[in-house]
Amino acid sequence: MFSNFLSKKLSKMKDINLFRTLRQVQSTPSTKIEINGESLINFSSNDYLNLAENKEIINAAIEIIEKYGFTATSSRLISGNLAIHEELETKLANFKDKQSAIVFPSGYQANIGVISALLSNEKESCIIMDKLNHASLWDGARFSGKRIFVYNHCDMNFFEKILKRSSKYKVKLAITESVFSMDGDLTPLKDFTYLCQKYGAISMVDEAHSTGVFGREGKGLADVFGVSDKIDVSIGTLSKAFAAQGGFVCGSHKLTRFLINKSRSFIYTTAISPAICAAALKSMEIIKKCNNKRQHLHDISKILKDKLMTLGFNTLNTRSQIIPIITGTTENTEKISSYLFRHGIYIPAIKPPTVPKGQSRIRLSLSSKHVNDDIEKLCNSLKRFT
Ligand SMILES: Cc1ncc(COP(=O)(O)O)c(C=O)c1O
Repeated sequence: MFSNFLSKKLSKMKDINLFRTLRQVQSTPSTKIEINGESLINFSSNDYLNLAENKEIINAAIEIIEKYGFTATSSRLISGNLAIHEELETKLANFKDKQSAIVFPSGYQANIGVISALLSNEKESCIIMDKLNHASLWDGARFSGKRIFVYNHCDMNFFEKILKRSSKYKVKLAITESVFSMDGDLTPLKDFTYLCQKYGAISMVDEAHSTGVFGREGKGLADVFGVSDKIDVSIGTLSKAFAAQGGFVCGSHKLTRFLINKSRSFIYTTAISPAICAAALKSMEIIKKCNNKRQHLHDISKILKDKLMTLGFNTLNTRSQIIPIITGTTENTEKISSYLFRHGIYIPAIKPPTVPKGQSRIRLSLSSKHVNDDIEKLCNSLKRFT
């Protein structure tokens, strides 16, 4: 009976072309990736600064494993709170110009853990979200069980209207991403934080895709806009430009003390491995010095975007290293992705529910290791689809 139940579910997904499978990768998924024995140019990793292969980071992790072993053995509140967790948190807080930081096992867990904790036991509270926020932010909002108000993507007028209309809520949590993970565009963080302050909303900004890539020393987009001090809850991940694993929250001492007591995805899970902390610490050191890589990444992103636009592709309003090419139906997107695969380029199709229906896309994410030749090859292969 259970088997029938699953068969029905699976065939339904297949019928509507939304069935997903895993592809086995046989190399470090850097700008080159090996799949089925083939080497392809990879435009789909979040290794923005090409640190996944960095020997200093790898060695830092090995050194710590040799000293402490791999596992932290229990949760942070039991016996898993090692000195290296605290060192990482102190340095992350400094990096982000905040008083304090706290690390979660993933960015996903950070988001669900923060949102649901902040609003628990707050009867008259609501969440105000950008429509295109990442699934982890949506899940956190849903887990909170609170009323969710949604504004059109990056529409600050609409955001203000909702803030005005929600004056009856004592606690309002406003959430956005800085660089949007699927569209590559940017929240106008000056307006966002100004409006949060004006209407007394807590501001939460997920900098998963901007940390390491934007701002002085890679501090993130809030630094570019000069609003780091206006963000109450700043989220980051160690799994993208950091090339490690885990998520983190930066804010006031009170915020992190509160999360240590109330955030279920922090409390009820084993602390991240000391090896991950060592890798992240080394990454942070390197990231700060990556100005040339950052510049190259911005330069090639602009070159690629311009080329794609000249070819007639719809790349939305991207202003970052994430460049979507809107391909519409899932069938068309799969077709393009498979064609590219056969021609030595790896970019998986992104389809609903990750993106809205009719907005399936090829999502390119660039790394500082990509060179003009990679871009030329990609554009030449894409020409036939214009
Ligand atoms: C905006 C955003 N927030 C959070 C996450 C989750 O981060 P992690 O991969 O560390 O769980 C992602 C990554 O997929 C993301 O794109």
